Amino acid sequence: MLILGIESSCDETAVAVVRDGREVLSSVIASQTAVHAPFGGVVPEVASREHLRVIAPLVTEALKQSGVKLEDVDAIAVTQGPGLIGALLVGVAYAKGLSWALGKPLVPVDHVHAHVHGALLGVAESANEAAFYPTLALVVSGGHTNLYKMSSPTSYELIGNSVDDACGECFDKVAKILGLGYPGGPLIEKLAQGGDPKAVAMPRMVTEKKRLEFSYSGLKTFMANLVRDEKKPISEKRLADICAAFQDEALGQIVRKLKEGLRLCPGTKSVLVAGGVAANQRFKALMAAEIGVPAHFPHPKFCSDNAAMIAAYGYHVAKTTKPAATRGFDAYSRYDFAGVSS
Ligand code: KG4
Ligand code: ZN
Repeated sequence: MLILGIESSCDETAVAVVRDGREVLSSVIASQTAVHAPFGGVVPEVASREHLRVIAPLVTEALKQSGVKLEDVDAIAVTQGPGLIGALLVGVAYAKGLSWALGKPLVPVDHVHAHVHGALLGVAESANEAAFYPTLALVVSGGHTNLYKMSSPTSYELIGNSVDDACGECFDKVAKILGLGYPGGPLIEKLAQGGDPKAVAMPRMVTEKKRLEFSYSGLKTFMANLVRDEKKPISEKRLADICAAFQDEALGQIVRKLKEGLRLCPGTKSVLVAGGVAANQRFKALMAAEIGVPAHFPHPKFCSDNAAMIAAYGYHVAKTTKPAATRGFDAYSRYDFAGVSS
């Protein structure tokens, strides 16, 4: 089944063609980072206009790169939410128009849920669903630290999330405190490579074993106080140690909670990790050392926002939902999934 995926929830317009939820035939992304940079954050109205400017050429480019003709696409998957209303509307209206013009099903999907499917993009076809599910799935990004129990590719049960800051957000804020720049995750990871994670004692958050929630604001405050009290200028070695210790605690908290999740959910066959923080190599190493089941991380290009994950999730929704269920879908009601289970 060939799915055309469209993503426009924030400041990236992305289009992809994916076969059977795994094989990425093309994935193109137009980032608006430079457009918003002078404003110090994403300007919603500017984002919508940028999406509108690039969406049609991106669809043409994605089809060209995939070698697939528009009429051969089996369904169109699109991010329905969450995200900026005006930005979402551009993708949804475009996808809806394509769906009507081609007479092909429209598959609206949840962006955060779709991230999970980034972890299995490119994984061999021969590894069928039964090899992964039931799974515990993590979405660890700048906006979310979510742990889901999933019995199938379309059933999501949220069993843990952050009670305050998200993990990626904490990396970004600590990088700012250290004067490193944005986004903080990759900068801290790079500096941490030369550091000793045991050189600086870190506080442990949410230590009650059975609670699966995450918390990062206490760690952020601890880091602010630590940096304030450091002798200035902070030496290169000391900065590396601070970054390594912080990184291990920020990621270690997730590994601890995941281990508890696995204990509470016997029979779990795999762990799927997604979102921007999944690009962190230390995360992979910590996980591999501690988790007794296979952990799948996305290729770095599928960790952050992309449309291949939208198409991949769309494939599973299309497979399990009658096309008629999407016909009455109203592009203006983002949160009404019109009977589509996601
Ligand atoms: O999923 P994502 O691209 O975007 C949204 O949250 O919308 O995630 C971005 C987040 C940022 O907070 C960034 O600092 C973090 O992912 N991140 C990382 C790494 N690469 C990106 N955090 C830790 N280590 C990394 N290598
Ligand atoms: Zn995202």
